[in-house]
Amino acid sequence: MRKLALPVVSRRIHSPSGVPITWGMRKQGLGGAGPGGVIRSILGKESGAAHPSSSRIPVEANGGEARTPSEKGRVLVVDDEPQVQQLIKRILERHGFECELAASAEEARKSLDAGGKRFQLMLCDVNMPGESGLELIRSVLVSHPDVAALMVTGADDPSLAESAIQLGAHGYLTKPFSPNELMIHITNALHRRRLEIENREHREVLERAVENRTAALSDAVSQLQRSEQELRMHQEETVRRLSSMAELRDLETGRHLERMSSYCALIAERFGFSRERVELMRLASPMHDVGKIGIPDNILLKPATLTPDEFQIMQQHTVIGYRILSGSEAELLALAATLAWTHHERFDGSGYPRGIAGDEIPIEGRIAAVADVFDALTTDRIYRPAFGAERAIEMMREQRGAHFDPDVLDCFLDAMESVEEIRIGYNRAVPAFDRKSKVKQAA
Ligand SMILES: [Fe+2]
Ligand SMILES: [Fe+2]
Repeated sequence: MRKLALPVVSRRIHSPSGVPITWGMRKQGLGGAGPGGVIRSILGKESGAAHPSSSRIPVEANGGEARTPSEKGRVLVVDDEPQVQQLIKRILERHGFECELAASAEEARKSLDAGGKRFQLMLCDVNMPGESGLELIRSVLVSHPDVAALMVTGADDPSLAESAIQLGAHGYLTKPFSPNELMIHITNALHRRRLEIENREHREVLERAVENRTAALSDAVSQLQRSEQELRMHQEETVRRLSSMAELRDLETGRHLERMSSYCALIAERFGFSRERVELMRLASPMHDVGKIGIPDNILLKPATLTPDEFQIMQQHTVIGYRILSGSEAELLALAATLAWTHHERFDGSGYPRGIAGDEIPIEGRIAAVADVFDALTTDRIYRPAFGAERAIEMMREQRGAHFDPDVLDCFLDAMESVEEIRIGYNRAVPAFDRKSKVKQAA
């Protein structure tokens, strides 16, 4: 390729042979030693006499028209050699760029940091007094990511070029160069800069979209959690109101429901139920006797052992409770219906209302049976005083595999420490729903 000398030089002077200056010629001694040597040698001749054939080599070596400065953008030329600065400036201005000059990294930073100026490109020498061009590029590409950096140096060193590129430089051009080469490198560097900016903007748009979506999702989840909490509170209230119907009829059941609910949750947890299922057991179990609402007072409140006929009627509270609670798609009510229907079934099939046995009885019903009986045994009844915990345990052990599922009973007995905490704790605590006192007050 035919290389031209730097443009202004080429207009006014040429190298002695009239042949464009190339790197190879510099190596043959025409350029002098060190980076920029060729330019210096040309400038020396420029100040002497104009070459007769200078007009043969156009300044616009790439065929471009002279343009208004800043038309294409602003370029910062960083070089400690004023002649090099001026030459590059002239080339760039002829191609429509506005140039600002800096003789050191420090000056370059001042220009870059000055308000109101926005550079698209920095042409940077490598060897300069003080900070090197490489160090300048390293920091500028971080502090001004929209500025493209192009190394322009007399050092034809591949490892240096590689270092510059790795630092993020958009090109590496060795002196001497033709105007065409300079402009091609600049065009490439600016093209790459534009792509990088577009890419970054696109990425930022995507990141913002992801952030917005994430925030929206987070809001939706919070809303859902609030809704679930409200739903859970409403469910709990429904359960308490439903349970209270039975309590109003059977004044003994006040704290029984709360203790029974805690025993059910304790067994379910130790039996390996999920946290949600344990909570459902806690909420649903107080409704197990809701069917007592349909049992006549003379049977429900009879302070003596029931006759066989009366007991048959009493057994109907399981079916009545099931009818009240079943048919709902709500998990809580479905479980409450199951508990109402099955809490008096016995593992050996001798229970009621259906006389189902073993695994036919839902596990929740088998758990409720253990919890219900233990609390009944350890609580005063109209027709008998409470048994002590030890006696109650003894009586229940005798029913292992008969009334009670052995695994569920073992699980319950293994947790006796927690069972006692619940029993004693509720007996000490002021009841949340002291129905007795409320009824008395109402009366
Ligand atoms: Fe019952
Ligand atoms: Fe009960």
